[in-house]
Amino acid sequence: MVILGIETTCDETAAALVERTDEGRGRILSNIVLSQLSEHAPYGGVVPEIAARAHVEALDHIIANAMGEAQCNFDSIDGVAAAAGPGLIGGVIVGLTTAKAIALVTEKPLIAVNHLEAHALTARLTDGIAFPYCLFLASGGHTQIVAVRGVGNYVRLGTTVDDAIGEAFDKTAKLLGLGYPGGPQVELEAKAGNPARFQLPRPMLGKPNADFSLSGLKTALRLEAERIAPISDPDVRDLCASFQQAVVDVVADRLRMGLKLFREQCGDPTGLVAAGGVAANAAIRKVLHRLSFEGGTQLVLPPAALCTDNGAMIAWAGAERLALGLIDTLDTPPHARWPLSDLAARATPRRKAG
Ligand code: KG4
Ligand code: ZN
Repeated sequence: MVILGIETTCDETAAALVERTDEGRGRILSNIVLSQLSEHAPYGGVVPEIAARAHVEALDHIIANAMGEAQCNFDSIDGVAAAAGPGLIGGVIVGLTTAKAIALVTEKPLIAVNHLEAHALTARLTDGIAFPYCLFLASGGHTQIVAVRGVGNYVRLGTTVDDAIGEAFDKTAKLLGLGYPGGPQVELEAKAGNPARFQLPRPMLGKPNADFSLSGLKTALRLEAERIAPISDPDVRDLCASFQQAVVDVVADRLRMGLKLFREQCGDPTGLVAAGGVAANAAIRKVLHRLSFEGGTQLVLPPAALCTDNGAMIAWAGAERLALGLIDTLDTPPHARWPLSDLAARATPRRKAG
């Protein structure tokens, strides 16, 4: 089966064609991502109204390019999937409405995909990993440890009680006068800095749950920066290195706890899987390697281009759902908020795909 996937929940306009074989193997036929970075950079963050308008302008062309590159046409696809949330509602409406229009005209099934589920299932597209596995999802908007037990079957083991990890990187960068998005900039500065110079807190360390908290760390960093102001370039490097080290220590501790909770609730995982933009950070990747080794499980790290937002993950999640007969009607609503736990209710087939 071949599925068209559309992603417009944040600041990337993306479309892709993905094939799924009867045995459940995946193949990306095309994967086109247009980043709106330059349009939001002057504001130091994503401006929802600018994002929605940019999706409207770009999406038709991006879909046409994806179809062309995959040598597909609307007759040759088996369904159209769009991210129906969670995300910035204006953008979600653009992608979902476009998918509905295509589904209506071509009489192909519509699959309304949860963006988080798409991140969660990407490792099955890239590595064919079997259920159940432990997912560490860390992006600009989400920080979660999830037991992925099946399509539509997720148990959230931990989440952030305040900021997402990517958001904390972005705010740190902003505070220190680095560019947007902040993660890559902070990582670059940290490489040449001293991680032991500033004593920053490790929030939640040792807590018996697998939750995260980042806002106290961010505040502590701001107070240190104010204490030594005006800050020099070496100060920025040391602040970034100390911040990143604190995050790495927190991730190690929280994931260790997450894997323990996983084993208690679901048995041995088939692997530890990372997703989201933060998984591009080399120091985080290093600690993930250590944790999977320690925990006696394999680490699955999809390529960075599939860890960040893209259309292939939406198409793949659509294919996984369609293969189970899980399709949606044309009155399916867009969602600004849509926790993975709400998917369980949808996980019973409504009607078989035609
Ligand atoms: O998954 P993603 O592309 O978009 C969503 O948020 O959905 O993740 C973007 C986030 C941003 O907060 C960015 O600063 C962070 O991932 N990020 C990083 C790195 N690259 C991207 N954080 C730390 N280190 C990086 N190298
Ligand atoms: Zn995402």
